[in-house]
Amino acid sequence: MPDKSVSYWSDTKHGLRAVELRAAGFEPSEAVKTNAVVTIANAYTNAHRCNNRVRRIADLLVDAVSSSGGQGLLVGAPAVSDALTQGTENAGYSLVSRDLMADCMETGHYAHHGNAMIVVSGCDKTGAAALMPLARTNAFGLVVYPGTSSPGRVDFEPWASKGNNLTIMDYMEGSAAREAGRISDDELASLQRCVMPGSGTCGAMFTANTMSTIAEAIGMMLPRGASHPADYDAASDIHDDVKNQAHASVKALYHLMEMGVRPRDIMVREAFENAVTTAYAMGGSTNLYLHVLAIAREAGVPFTIDDLQRIGERVPLIANLQPHGAYAMVSLHNVGGVPVVMKALLGAGLLHGDVMTVTGKTLAENLAEVALPENLPAQDVVFSGCPTPGGSW
Ligand code: FES
Repeated sequence: MPDKSVSYWSDTKHGLRAVELRAAGFEPSEAVKTNAVVTIANAYTNAHRCNNRVRRIADLLVDAVSSSGGQGLLVGAPAVSDALTQGTENAGYSLVSRDLMADCMETGHYAHHGNAMIVVSGCDKTGAAALMPLARTNAFGLVVYPGTSSPGRVDFEPWASKGNNLTIMDYMEGSAAREAGRISDDELASLQRCVMPGSGTCGAMFTANTMSTIAEAIGMMLPRGASHPADYDAASDIHDDVKNQAHASVKALYHLMEMGVRPRDIMVREAFENAVTTAYAMGGSTNLYLHVLAIAREAGVPFTIDDLQRIGERVPLIANLQPHGAYAMVSLHNVGGVPVVMKALLGAGLLHGDVMTVTGKTLAENLAEVALPENLPAQDVVFSGCPTPGGSW
């Protein structure tokens, strides 16, 4: 991209563009001072609970950019949810929407003269797409996750003993139990009302939480950004952790611009290995195969299906998360989030600590103050005893 100096915006070719941008409330020559017409690339829809808070977060980011002296530029993209398409005649619109969304964000960013980009995106395909426009454009930027759904509870077995850890997975199991005559219509209706008390992505380690984990572990999202709940309940505003993450992300973006650190400085091969290692250790979805390879291609990083397999064969499963374990993603957030898992993996020699991240620090620096699972107050969300280098598993 050219240096957008004052003369850039007053020459014959770009002067008319400056008139257009000013009429819409932007001041293009300000970008010279702030270097920040920030594309807030967002996959918003009110059609599903995975992304229905995205618009509010995008507006929050615009305000935060404005408070930092920059100009937030909203760019929309389609937001398709598998919860609405899977098993229907419309399923064909799902996977293709990932690439369509990346294309929309790239198009909006370049066409509206953005200097940097924050991507806000949540559900399976939109979360998978989040890193693609950043890798493709290499614009200064990072990802903000709108959040996962808070878990729910009911007062009848076998779900009552699970406590406040029910997710959409429990509704699916309840649905099958009703078919088999093991629970009543009323109990199924209760599960339907209670498993997801607010909005957010599926609470288990399905594709959305797997891809938010990938975004954080690869270094493109601030620490603890992959696991926060979207809201407190259906009637509440977005969760304070999401608001804090949004403000901190704008601050981090300006720091990255000052440092000159771009996505391809972060999304290097070692960072891909870290991301895949972490997702495996948390029991992530096998859909990561589809999406990580696409992201690597956009980043120009040679990364193959054999690399994914090789990494998977040496990584222990240390997070007790659904669908294989007991807890929802929010439980991991409450004990420290993805950094706790990464701390254990780094200590075991399974991660590269010297890679750059969007904090402007290396991964090892980010994890320096993070507690190992065995040093946390009693918990069984992340298991301790990750084998040390040379150990066997
Ligand atoms: Fe949107 Fe699962 S269907 S996150």
